[in-house]
Amino acid sequence: MVLLRTKDELREWTTERTGRPRVLVPTMGALHAGHTSLMDLAIKRAGDGDVLATIFVNPTQFGPNEDFDAYPRQLQADLEKCRDHGVTSVFAPEADEMYFNDATISVHESRLSHRLCGASRPGHFDGVCTIVAKLFLLTQPTAAVFGEKDFQQLAVIRRMVRDLDFSVDVIGGPTVRESDGLAMSSRNAYLSDEQRAAAPIIQKTLREVAAGIASDRFSSPETARAALAEGIASEGLARIDYVDVVDASSLETLETFEGAIPRLVAAVFFGKTRLIDNVGLPE
Ligand code: PAJ
Repeated sequence: MVLLRTKDELREWTTERTGRPRVLVPTMGALHAGHTSLMDLAIKRAGDGDVLATIFVNPTQFGPNEDFDAYPRQLQADLEKCRDHGVTSVFAPEADEMYFNDATISVHESRLSHRLCGASRPGHFDGVCTIVAKLFLLTQPTAAVFGEKDFQQLAVIRRMVRDLDFSVDVIGGPTVRESDGLAMSSRNAYLSDEQRAAAPIIQKTLREVAAGIASDRFSSPETARAALAEGIASEGLARIDYVDVVDASSLETLETFEGAIPRLVAAVFFGKTRLIDNVGLPE
């Protein structure tokens, strides 16, 4: 496995491999089984081509009062995981490699980004789009894998690829969970034991309400939304940022179930730690 630290090294690596299938797995590191599941998908997709993972804690997607400084950084352990999962190369640039100090251009998405996570994290999805666009341009992948855990991010990236004509096939990977249902996240490490024990309420409630929608127990998305809020708030340590029942592709709040593919989404604080999760309806 090759470790690339600079954009020049990455460009050289990319040029040497022109014409081969190349699947990109962008991450911010602190890798867990959710990330490595995406690498496994990438390996399958790449065939005899290359899988390139990137590890970069991207400053432009963090707000001023967010956890950029505290975000876990553990490059050596991450590299071992990448090697174990058959990744061909890892691009892990130094903090100041990716952006010019006086950069004035960014990628702005104006429809899908303003709600849900975008409402409480202004500028977040512009930061995500900008870094992902830069990674696409630098690495010229045939495909890239992103997790459904970050459902809004996946939708925004699909939209960017469509609207900016990137020739990249975007693949969504299912959410990997702990045995009690909590979606794996690098931020789970911030939880106290008590908060960790309480956090599965998110997934439990999302799943119960999704099953309720599938069996016509809710007359409208509005009543399903109320059930989500009530179920999650029944856990005293949980502070809801948002819950919603949205259209899976437009991410707009659903007014009716008719003809819709609903996605149930939630962002919940436990202390200062903000966790997100989402589910579709059961098959
Ligand atoms: P990060 O949070 O490190 O996540 C990297 C990728 O792993 C994302 O596509 C995310 O959706 C996926 N992922 C995280 N937890 C997962 C889980 N439990 N199951 C399946 N997939 C999971 O998302 C980012 O980094 C950044 O925004 C990035 C796209 C790298 C741009 O900086």
